Amino acid sequence: MCGIVGATSERRVAGILLEGLKRLEYRGYDSAGVAVIDANNELKSVRRTGKVQELKDAIAQNPLDGTIGIAHTRWATHGGVTEANAHPHRSEDEIAVVHNGIIENHERLREELKAEGYVFNSQTDTEVIAHLIHHERKTKGDLLDAVKSAVRQLEGAYGTVVMDTKHPERLVVARSGSPLVIGVGIGENFVASDQLALLPVTRQFIYLEEGDVADINRTDIAIYDTEGNSVEREVVESDVSYDAGGKGQYRHFMLKEIYEQPIAVRNTLEGRLSETTVLDNAFGENAAEILKDIEHVQIVACGTSYHAGMVARYWLESMANVSCNIEIASEFRYRKSYVHPNSLLVTISQSGETADTLAALRLSKELGYKGSLTICNVGSSSMVRESDLAFLTRAGAEIGVASTKAFTTQLTGLLMLTLGIGKYRGMPEQQQEAVVHALQALPTKLEEAVALADEIEELAQDFANKDHSLFLGRGNQYPIAMEGALKLKEISYIHAEAYAAGELKHGPLALIDEEMPVIVVAPNNDLLEKLKSNVEEVRARGGLMYVFADKNAHFKSDDTMNVLNVCHCDEVIAPIVYTVPLQLLSYYVALIKGTDVDQPRNLAKSVTVE
Ligand code: M6R
Repeated sequence: MCGIVGATSERRVAGILLEGLKRLEYRGYDSAGVAVIDANNELKSVRRTGKVQELKDAIAQNPLDGTIGIAHTRWATHGGVTEANAHPHRSEDEIAVVHNGIIENHERLREELKAEGYVFNSQTDTEVIAHLIHHERKTKGDLLDAVKSAVRQLEGAYGTVVMDTKHPERLVVARSGSPLVIGVGIGENFVASDQLALLPVTRQFIYLEEGDVADINRTDIAIYDTEGNSVEREVVESDVSYDAGGKGQYRHFMLKEIYEQPIAVRNTLEGRLSETTVLDNAFGENAAEILKDIEHVQIVACGTSYHAGMVARYWLESMANVSCNIEIASEFRYRKSYVHPNSLLVTISQSGETADTLAALRLSKELGYKGSLTICNVGSSSMVRESDLAFLTRAGAEIGVASTKAFTTQLTGLLMLTLGIGKYRGMPEQQQEAVVHALQALPTKLEEAVALADEIEELAQDFANKDHSLFLGRGNQYPIAMEGALKLKEISYIHAEAYAAGELKHGPLALIDEEMPVIVVAPNNDLLEKLKSNVEEVRARGGLMYVFADKNAHFKSDDTMNVLNVCHCDEVIAPIVYTVPLQLLSYYVALIKGTDVDQPRNLAKSVTVE
């Protein structure tokens, strides 16, 4: 989704801003722009639809010379993908603004500002902010006061950075609903929607809180809370362990991230297990205080993270003896739900900023939950900061829009949560130990799964001319089939559906013909014989099958069935291991299709608007 970068320095900032935008490309966007205030105190900007590279090329032709500037990648919400709708937006050639989020009362404000004589050049809600701040600055005189007064009038979500030719050394920023981080430099300061954008220039960050407004110049940072009080916010040294800006030897970030899964999961496990169970503090200090009383778990998440939650329900109910519901966040937040006594609200999110999941977490605080836990990959995210407990998945920055290592590390965390709750609910010690051993073996099993890449690349050729596909699984592999289908559709644009295999005969069987590949996830578990019957139902109707199976499951390749043998593994970790071949399948199909693997059309990495 949209990305923001800003800088105030003694050196020229256009290069820093463009590099920042490049690093935010992974979030998904459709246009980009930069504005600076130049030596003549004039606003200069360049905007382009398409990739940041096009913006870079345009600026190379007409350099932007300025020591203060703001930049943006836009993911269209209000108004089409046009240069006029790209940010920064300007008012009267004095104020320039970039904005993430959605202003819900923009229509009313637009009418009021038009009545004041302001002329609108775009269809965006953001242009309203530029004119509103200009209007307020005319009466208030000072930029900070103008921004404070303007944001009080905004309804909706914003992370915004404002520049003013009347105050050419200052960036004023405001955050409500969309994250913003200040990068602290030496004799220069920065701001961005994501610390990754600023890693080349600083590792010192201040995370703004909801409602904060900050006034930033080269040497000083002043922050004010919702009440307008001056506040100190901690400066945190970034713990991002490697430079996520590069793809290394890999052709795409997605492939790199698939290959990183064994090490990512090793990091997830590191220091959190004893020989017999999980350590309570894996979920935060004093986690036991909450976990020991939990009688029900409500999981809320979106997309891939939702699929992780679906798997967790199977684990929690079968091993931890605790009831569990799982719901899509955009549904949960808008319905009246029943809260069981002693319920734990669990949010799962790679980014920790997904608008619907964050809203569900905030809502839960009014509903009487015993506590909240987030399973999240970003330690500085809103969800981590606003949850009672947090389990950091430690996957490392995930750049590909299609979630891969974030998912397998979430699953690893959720299996550990099963131990964390199960040990207080009579889960037998022997069973806890067995899960610990299975978890310890997981990185090696993932290495074996990744090693199937060449075989899967070959299988993928069959999908080059297919428009539809069906994924089947049973039990805790049903959500894995759903995840496989989501991966295939989001990066190859092939229509993919997932079904619990037992549902086939209740409708989807009608779709089966030789044009519909059917992908079956078949580990060796107690549902195998049932699954085999479902496979025969497909075969009898002329379907072409791709079975990802344990070698002990005794499937044999023939004219109608391609069998890919996946390494044998403990049943409890099979959902994590079987995810990998499905990720690889979608990756290689997308390669053949020639789609944009890391930034699929219309999608954003972090969905910070509803
Ligand atoms: O950051 P989150 O995990 O909260 O994101 C939720 C979904 O937007 C995300 O999982 C999405 O479905 C993935 N890009 C799919 O690969």
